[in-house]
Amino acid sequence: MNESTFPGTEQQFNGSEQYPSSEPPTPAQPIAPPPQRNLTPPENYAAMPRPTAKLTAEDLAPVSDPSGPRKLGPTGRPMPDLPEPLPPTKTGPAQVIAMCNQKGGVGKTTTTINLGAAIAETGRKVLLIDFDPQGSASIGLGVQPHDLELSVYNLLMQRDITAGEVIQATNVPNLDLLPANIDLSAAEVQLVQEVAREYTLQRVLEPIIPNYDVILIDCAPSLGLLTVNALTASNGIVVPLECEFFALRGLAMLTDTIGKVQDRLNPKLEIVGILGTMFDGRTTHAREVLDRVVQAFDERVFHTVIRRTVKFPETTVVGEPITTYAPSSSAATQYRDLAKEVLARCPAG
Ligand SMILES: Nc1ncnc2c1ncn2[C@@H]1O[C@H](COP(=O)(O)OP(=O)(O)OP(=O)(O)O)[C@@H](O)[C@H]1O
Ligand SMILES: [Mg+2]
Repeated sequence: MNESTFPGTEQQFNGSEQYPSSEPPTPAQPIAPPPQRNLTPPENYAAMPRPTAKLTAEDLAPVSDPSGPRKLGPTGRPMPDLPEPLPPTKTGPAQVIAMCNQKGGVGKTTTTINLGAAIAETGRKVLLIDFDPQGSASIGLGVQPHDLELSVYNLLMQRDITAGEVIQATNVPNLDLLPANIDLSAAEVQLVQEVAREYTLQRVLEPIIPNYDVILIDCAPSLGLLTVNALTASNGIVVPLECEFFALRGLAMLTDTIGKVQDRLNPKLEIVGILGTMFDGRTTHAREVLDRVVQAFDERVFHTVIRRTVKFPETTVVGEPITTYAPSSSAATQYRDLAKEVLARCPAG
């Protein structure tokens, strides 16, 4: 299967069609009726990894009126009443979760920073690993990549460097950062020579697993050796998916890579969830894309979606998470809701 033949997507997303538009139709250009939907689930659906834990019937109980109709969430499913995470009772061992999608600009870095900050707010110790030579997660937390003396590159490539020497505290309580810069691009090439090259990140993280409750890895937009290292070091994956027309393209390639890593390198690896990002509920196509993702991935799609807002680009400029930049914004609430869902599926602390 290649990226253009993800079952069920080829008919609807063949690239030659126009986006369904939210604009009112003009008399000169009437909008064609939507094409017949092909709702066949993916061939490899049964073989695909299941989430770590399903939401219980209790979690799915209606929010207010137990007998009334359940409110539908943005994914078109009844919105569960997500449990508030209890305060942590201990620290570690960490759940290691990779934010992974080889498609660029889908919200991996934004999700790493803001989910990390939202989990840190619950009192859990969180480490963010910038595993992208672009250094976006570092920049998003106010760290200038070119000023770094040590980065994740040194940790991977120099045996005498320990994680503690590279990790920095951030301005957010309970949130630490393992920063990266362009040096990391050299690791992609240099690691090829290493013995057990796919396990390099796992090996260097091992000593700090007891020190954190959650470690989030911000992957680069590629399925190269660095990303394979991230998947090998993780027990969960969150797949941010932009709610737009071409979002499903490439998902087959991603699930294929995940399957290979599970078979050959890391049988513990599971998809924690798929996260709709940059969602604009006013447009038909955003809702259709989300609908399609739910058809294909069922309960692995998070109930929480992240809506499109200019607040996120603003947070990058100020170098802090949305939870501190605009703590009472709906964008911050969405990431706090996501934190509840992630902690319900991957209990930590
Ligand atoms: N919900 C959102 N609403 C509006 N803009 C967003 C949203 N989420 C992310 N963005 C913006 O979209 C751009 C891409 O986001 P981000 O850097 O998180 O994606 P990415 O998947 O990490 O990209 P890359 O593949 O290049 O690493 C950024 O400018 C970010 O501020
Ligand atoms: Mg990024």
